[in-house]
Amino acid sequence: MKKSRLLFLAILMFVIAIIAAGCSSEDTADQTPDVDTEDQTPDTTTDDSSTDVPVENLSYYDNFVGPNACAGCHSGQMGKWETSWHTQKTAEGPALGGGDLVWDWVPSKWDELDSYLVLDRKDSNTIYVGTKKYELDEVDYSVGSIRKQRYMIYYDGSPQEAWLATTEDGGISWNLDKSETVQFEGNKERAGYNFLFIELRGEDDIRTYGTWRTWQEQCISCHTTGFNPNAWDEAKEQFINGEREDLKDTFIADLRISCESCHGPGKDHVSGPSSENIINPAKLSKDDPTRQLVCTQCHTRNQTNLVHGNGSNDYRGFKIGTDTNILEFISYTRPAWGTGNRQVSIDGKGRRDHQQDMDILLTDYIRGGSSVHGAMACFDCHDSHNVGNNANNPRTFGEAPIDNCITCHANNAEEMMQVLNGSTGWDKFGHGNYDNEGGRSGNKQHIFNFDEEGRSFGLSPDQYIWALKKDGNASEVDGWESIWPWEIDHYENELGQRTYIGAEPWNDAN
Ligand code: HEC
Ligand code: HEC
Ligand code: HEC
Ligand code: HEC
Ligand code: HEC
Ligand code: HEC
Repeated sequence: MKKSRLLFLAILMFVIAIIAAGCSSEDTADQTPDVDTEDQTPDTTTDDSSTDVPVENLSYYDNFVGPNACAGCHSGQMGKWETSWHTQKTAEGPALGGGDLVWDWVPSKWDELDSYLVLDRKDSNTIYVGTKKYELDEVDYSVGSIRKQRYMIYYDGSPQEAWLATTEDGGISWNLDKSETVQFEGNKERAGYNFLFIELRGEDDIRTYGTWRTWQEQCISCHTTGFNPNAWDEAKEQFINGEREDLKDTFIADLRISCESCHGPGKDHVSGPSSENIINPAKLSKDDPTRQLVCTQCHTRNQTNLVHGNGSNDYRGFKIGTDTNILEFISYTRPAWGTGNRQVSIDGKGRRDHQQDMDILLTDYIRGGSSVHGAMACFDCHDSHNVGNNANNPRTFGEAPIDNCITCHANNAEEMMQVLNGSTGWDKFGHGNYDNEGGRSGNKQHIFNFDEEGRSFGLSPDQYIWALKKDGNASEVDGWESIWPWEIDHYENELGQRTYIGAEPWNDAN
């Protein structure tokens, strides 16, 4: 397995070298079979450097061919994937001739909705909301179809009449003040597909939503396939400099989460099918980071993107199968040992959507690195091609969620399932009341660990992990920041910060 991955990487590096030498990528497919990788190695070693900002390999994004190119040879996978939830994420709206994903009840309710466009942020608790009410017909894209739905409309960043909306709870709820209008002076940085002020969860659960960055700026990489962040950055710069007409281009290969999101760009494989030029996640060895990254490149919560910045909190720039050290690309949402925050409980359990990644990594840490659960990939339990297709068990293999657990836990499986509810036995938390161990409710929590009382649990205080802030005072609480266990090396060796394991380093570490 290892060997074939190495060969795959070697071929990839060779392709990079050819492109650097000025050949077109069309030629490279033909040349792949007689590659002499040995000769090329010295030229490409920079690609491995872990401290530099990754060298952008432009051809990577040209190598996406779209799911239809796979259908002819893999009709079985195609047949399942086509109707799976991964295809029902982002869709063209009525303005672009689509609208299929818009929920049935929405048109009849539309007039009552605050379907105004969020234009920009004024300060950290205030946003500008345009006074023009948009019709459903004007929606360019919709996002979400299972639990939530939001809408986007193109905006060119020009001056507009606006209202102000404010939040007192960090953006969970918004108060739109229509009593007074203000003039928003415009901001070309915000051009692109902006969000309407509404978030729909159901007919009886209509909320407001204050995201003031565009779809392309913030979310697109996790919700589509093959987004090229370099092309976007360049287009944006051109637009701001007046060298480009608009920012309507999305720079993606497919609007859905398609085959190549998980299998890597397939151009070479389509022209010469082989197991060497496509990723099969199930065949990767357990210590190959790509195995888990296939899913966690999207199913995680980031604080920020370190390469493309500017408010993007997706994995833009990360290339599955090529890049492996994720800490070069993103900073995870921050833990808050002992105090908790909106994202994580005081013990590190995730509280919001798509945080299973960190839960599983914590499981491995708690179990001391020899854990069966820590080593399991998402796709060991989840039916990747089939997510959403089986109404009785939409997410996992088998007829019911418990089926997976029975394979190993037999008679204890029922009891073990309790762990997926992160708030069993703990106090309920609400906004501002984060100082407890209550994590996600329902079947969501993914730290596979119980405490002595049978409650799902993350790190105990003696396992908390900290880094001394740059210029931080080691004897003050504020001198320390919480870090995740898998960041220890990074903090020590890349960032040069001292780390500490234990409940209260400020009392102890001098
Ligand atoms: C012309 C036919 C053809 C097309 C088109 C094609 N494949 Fe394949 N694919 C194959 C064959 C043949 C194999 C088995 C190769 C082998 O085992 O050497 C394969 C194997 C695979 C594997 C498993 C590899 C392994 O190591 O087990 C994956 C994953 C895969 N293809 C994905 C894709 C994706 C994604 C696309 C579209 C981008 C695609 N294929 C397009 C013929 C095709
Ligand atoms: C790090 C990747 C990532 C980023 C960034 C991200 N999302 Fe998501 N989003 C997901 C995943 C994964 C899900 C699936 C839900 C889950 O795992 O719990 C999801 C679910 C959703 C849903 C619900 C889907 C449904 O069908 O019910 C909506 C709506 C949504 N996201 C909108 C957004 C918007 C708007 C942004 C940008 C402001 C955004 N997301 C940024 C990964 C991401
Ligand atoms: C959400 C991620 C994801 C998407 C999207 C996806 N796959 Fe897969 N694919 C996987 C995983 C994971 C495996 C490993 C086996 C498994 O878990 O099913 C796999 C396995 C395969 C295999 C090897 C044979 C097998 O079924 O195990 C082929 C071929 C394949 N996928 C083709 C495709 C094609 C073609 C598409 C698009 C129509 C596609 N996949 C979409 C994740 C994905
Ligand atoms: C390119 C980003 C991306 C990748 C890669 C990806 N997912 Fe997803 N996944 C999403 C988004 C976005 C959704 C929400 C889709 C929706 O509900 O409309 C989702 C939904 C899901 C759901 C259903 C969640 C729910 O709402 O209950 C499961 C389960 C899932 N993915 C598993 C996987 C697995 C397993 C893999 C890896 C084999 C994977 N995903 C790879 C983005 C991704
Ligand atoms: C040991 C098996 C197992 C592993 C490993 C696992 N899951 Fe799950 N996951 C489950 C079960 C069981 C459920 C509950 C399914 C249900 O009730 O439909 C679930 C639920 C989910 C949901 C739906 C949560 C929601 O908000 O409704 C998502 C998304 C998900 N898992 C993603 C992942 C991701 C991503 C990974 C890898 C980082 C992963 N899972 C690893 C077993 C597992
Ligand atoms: C491949 C075998 C396997 C599968 C499948 C599996 N487990 Fe486990 N589980 C184990 C093993 C082995 C342990 C012991 C700790 C370890 O190695 O991670 C364990 C430990 C646990 C623990 C911790 C128990 C404790 O005392 O703290 C929980 C909770 C758990 N599993 C729940 C589940 C659930 C829920 C599922 C199904 C969604 C599941 N497991 C599926 C093998 C498995």
